[in-house]
Amino acid sequence: MSVGIDDISFATSNFYLDLKSLADVQQIEADKYYLGIGQEKMGMVSLDEDVVTMAANAALPIVEKIDRQSISTVLFATETGIDQSKAAGIFVHGLLELPARCRVVELKQACYSATGALQMACALVARNPQQKVLVLASDIARYDLDSSGEATQGCGAVAMLISANPRLVEIEPESGHYTEDVMDFWRPNYRSTALVDGKYSTKIYLKALKQAWSHYHEVSGVEFDQLDYVCYHLPFSRMAEKAQLQLAKFSKSSADSAALLARIEPTLHYNRILGNSYTASMYIGLNSLLDNADQDLSGRRIGFFSYGSGCVAEFFSGRIVPGYKAHLHSEQHARMLAEREELDYNAYLRFYHATHPIDGGDHQFEPKTRGHFRLAGISQHKRIYSAR
Ligand code: CAA
Repeated sequence: MSVGIDDISFATSNFYLDLKSLADVQQIEADKYYLGIGQEKMGMVSLDEDVVTMAANAALPIVEKIDRQSISTVLFATETGIDQSKAAGIFVHGLLELPARCRVVELKQACYSATGALQMACALVARNPQQKVLVLASDIARYDLDSSGEATQGCGAVAMLISANPRLVEIEPESGHYTEDVMDFWRPNYRSTALVDGKYSTKIYLKALKQAWSHYHEVSGVEFDQLDYVCYHLPFSRMAEKAQLQLAKFSKSSADSAALLARIEPTLHYNRILGNSYTASMYIGLNSLLDNADQDLSGRRIGFFSYGSGCVAEFFSGRIVPGYKAHLHSEQHARMLAEREELDYNAYLRFYHATHPIDGGDHQFEPKTRGHFRLAGISQHKRIYSAR
């Protein structure tokens, strides 16, 4: 019996800023962003969108196609928590009308926790192959204005159904781990934006990559050139290019640069126009590969490098299941992306500064998003969600 990803779908906000608009205001070349960090657009949420609405929108196409009673567990990975106590996944559980006989938990370790959730889900399914686990990862990346991280903001959510004998990706059991106590990126409870030591964070990312890869290589015996594609954590797409070239050098790959970059290119399409989605980003990269690769991926081995600042990293692999193409939501993804609205710079600033009321009053939010689920208001400190 194999265990892995039976279905996958992603969602993002309805609004974005083109990084050219940011570059124009900063009086720098747009290519600093388009080419230098490899990003074109960044998702911005309206007041009626949050990690819950994005996750529920991502998961809806999955749960609509199955018997909801088969979902025994929902694992919600995020570093954009909306409550210090209640798991955001419980709101999603309600919106998706999942069964009461279900456990729901929120997981946190920066951008890594979706991978912790995936591995836990695989273990649960291996223990009881009848059950299905819904893994959700949803985040909104926010940095201070005029900081080095500003152009790497973004948002997105991914939903993955983990089951026995999956239809998309069989997750292989070997994996390599790495943990080190570092302060490269963090967000204290009293801040709404992350603090980051940008250049240092990229060095730690690459160090963790080598360490996690070495462990994976040792336990699996898989060589770097046996990975047909690699999905990296994607804070910005140039990071994956740097990672791929460094890992190739480290592992003494015989491939040239063009061949190496071709092994990551289809994973980058969505991230380039969504921006960083923290926990979701590597799995949106996988969704990008499945939706956009121009060759049949059946039987191909995919490497995964998951990185969460602070830091925890993991390298693991999976095999694409023949016939996977029939089960993708590619058209729905294209429609959702085409419906997004561009913000000009002033509207971006309004979105950036808009905050949810904290006075305990009754507040209704003007409908802005075209997503199926929205945050309709906050009343007496309680979030109220609605569906179209
Ligand atoms: N045309 C083409 N390229 C240009 C250019 C132009 N006109 N102008 C500049 N560039 C290039 C630069 O040469 C540079 O290329 P190299 O990286 O190949 O040297 C690239 O654009 C970036 O420019 P800078 O070196 O000046 O760097 P920056 O000021 O844009 O900052 C950063 C880069 C520090 C990563 C910043 O984006 C940042 O702080 N980001 C947030 C932190 C982050 O994402 N870290 C990643 C690792 S941590 C992680 O992964 C967890 C997470 O999700 C946050």
